[in-house]
Formats: sequence, structure tokens, C-alpha cells
Amino acid sequence: MHFHSEVNIVQGVDIVQQVSKALREEFFSELNLCKDTSAVEQLRVKYLGKKGPIQDLMKSLKSGTPEEKRVLGKEVNDLKEEIASKIGETAAFMRKREIDEQLLNEKIDVTLPGRRSFAGRKHPVSAAMDEILEILMEMGFSVQYGPDIDTDYYNFGALNFAPDHPARDMQDTFYIAPNVLLRTHTSNVQARVMEQHRPPIRIVAPGNAYRNETITARSHVFFHQIEGLYIDKGVSFADLLSTLEEFYKKLFRADITLRCRPSYFPFVEPGMEVDISCLQCNRRGCSLCKYSGWLEVCGAGLVHPEVLKNGDVDPEIYSGYAFGMGVERTLLLKKGVSDIRLLSENDLRFLQQFDAI
Ligand code: DAH
Repeated sequence: MHFHSEVNIVQGVDIVQQVSKALREEFFSELNLCKDTSAVEQLRVKYLGKKGPIQDLMKSLKSGTPEEKRVLGKEVNDLKEEIASKIGETAAFMRKREIDEQLLNEKIDVTLPGRRSFAGRKHPVSAAMDEILEILMEMGFSVQYGPDIDTDYYNFGALNFAPDHPARDMQDTFYIAPNVLLRTHTSNVQARVMEQHRPPIRIVAPGNAYRNETITARSHVFFHQIEGLYIDKGVSFADLLSTLEEFYKKLFRADITLRCRPSYFPFVEPGMEVDISCLQCNRRGCSLCKYSGWLEVCGAGLVHPEVLKNGDVDPEIYSGYAFGMGVERTLLLKKGVSDIRLLSENDLRFLQQFDAI
């Protein structure tokens, strides 16, 4: 049913009463169909709005007699109030129902146990590296980094490897160009540091190293090393030995004994392999030390005068020591892991056996 103010002129009480009766019935039937507050709100606008039928009826009264206005005005007003209060009631009822529903749907069960989040942990190699560095930093070394991809000069030449010297065969690597390679050791940091800093220099250089080797339980094509370098006036072999002994005692938390075996590395003179007394049997002989009583832990020596010269350091004034250790090897000893390959296979069953750090 449509109501238009232009059309309707009051012709008598009957007509207005009929219209308002019809309007009332229509309103209630529409109200019954409302399912939510927004439908009720639409109904309110439709019936009570400025362009709605109640307003139309009001306007149509203007042309009536005073008597008609009095009687019919009350009639229309009553209808208007009835509709308004019904709408208010229904809207309030529905709003409450909607809020109840929302509360029910959005209810959080605080008694439900939380989901355990997987935080991850440091890889054992990173953890070992951090532990080693922490001890060395405590002992006065600062950390320096160098590039994984380096030139022949920094990896070999500056370290006194002659171009055709067989010492290079021990460290075959992967070449990117004839003079550009993946570094075979973190000793490549030595000459770089000397170029940038004047002595005293006391650094450790952690990082990756690469070798063209057959992968076995003891060796891999990539691994991690920590190189140490100390250059100052009057640095002696005694300094080197006491530093290494102190370091390994701290690292293995054991009262170990150090043993040196002369060895050749072109960049140190004298050069040596350093062993510590076996952690498991304390030199009585066991499977860990292959019944020798000793475990090999690093290479070390006094920095060769040629290396100092290459770094523009005067060997007449300064001397230094250097050492280099493999992180994986150290970790294998410390944690009793038998195969270096386990450390790069990312098998969670293996990795999860290490402490969460
Ligand atoms: N760079 C050697 C290697 O990777 C280890 C090494 C030996 C480092 C003796 C040193 C050293 O600084 O003095 O085999």
C-alpha cells in the first residue's frame, strides 16, 4: 500500500480511520517479519520518517475542520506513538538477543591449555662458535670478519705460501676465477687486519672455510674455523702457550695439559700442532684419543716475519702469535659426536639432542 500526501484530502473521519487501521495492520505484519535490529531500524525510518505514511496522514489533516483535526489528530498521534513504542521495544529485545549471541560466539575458553610454540634454538655449531668467542673475548680478543670469497693473495700469498709450494696441495679449494677462490681458512683475515690496523692487534676471526676434500666422518668441504692473531712488541712463544692452555681449560672446564708437536705452516715459524690431554681418559688411552692419550685441537705458531712484512709491520720491532682451530672438530670433542657430517644434515633427531640455548 502506498500513501502520498498530495493525493489525500481528508474527506471524513471514516477514511482517516480506515487508513490508519490499514497502516497499523501493515506495520504489525511487517514488524513480525523483522529478524534483527537493522530490519527494525529500516521499519522505523519507513513508518516514522519525514516521508513516511504517518507524516502524510498528519499533513492531510491540515485541510480538515477543527473538530476533525482534534479527533483525527489524536487518532493519528496514538498510532504514531504505538508504532514508536513497539519499535523501541522490539529493537531493545533484539539488541539484547544479538549481544547475547555475540557473547556466546566470541567466548574465549581460558581453561584451554595454550599451544606450545616452537621457539627453535641455535644450531650446535653456532652455539659452539659463540661459546668459543665468548671465552676469547673475555681474554681480550676482539672479533674481526673477513670474506668467504677471497683472492689468492689473502688466502695464500700474503701468508707466505709460495706459488708452487706443496703446502697449497693440503688446502685445495673451489675456484671462482683463476685468482678468486673460496677461502680455505679464516687465516685470510690476518693480512687484511694488518692493512687496516697498527699493532697492538689482538683479534679472533670466526667464519666459514672450504676445501676440495672427500667428505668423510672427519672432514668436509665446508666447515667453520676461528683464527687468532696477536701482534705487539715482545710477544713470545710463552704467551702463546699460556693463552692456549688457559683457553682450553675454560672451554672444556677441565684441568687439561697442553702438548706441542712441531709442524709446518708457511705463515708461522716455529709452527706446531697443539694437542690437549684426552678429555675422556686423561692420557690413560681410550677410543676417543685412539689410545694415544692426546687430542689434536689446533694449529699455532709465531707469525712468520714475511707475513708481518706483507702486512707492513716491522718484524724487527714487533712479533706475534697466531692460532687456528676448527669449530666442528672442537664440538665433536666437547660433545662426543662421532661424525662431522651429522652437523650439516639438519636431522632434527640429532639437533634436538643439544641443549636449547
Ligand atoms: N690455517 C690453518 C689451517 O686451516 C690452521 C692454522 C695453523 C692457523 C697454524 C694458524 C696457525 O694461525 O698458526 O689448517
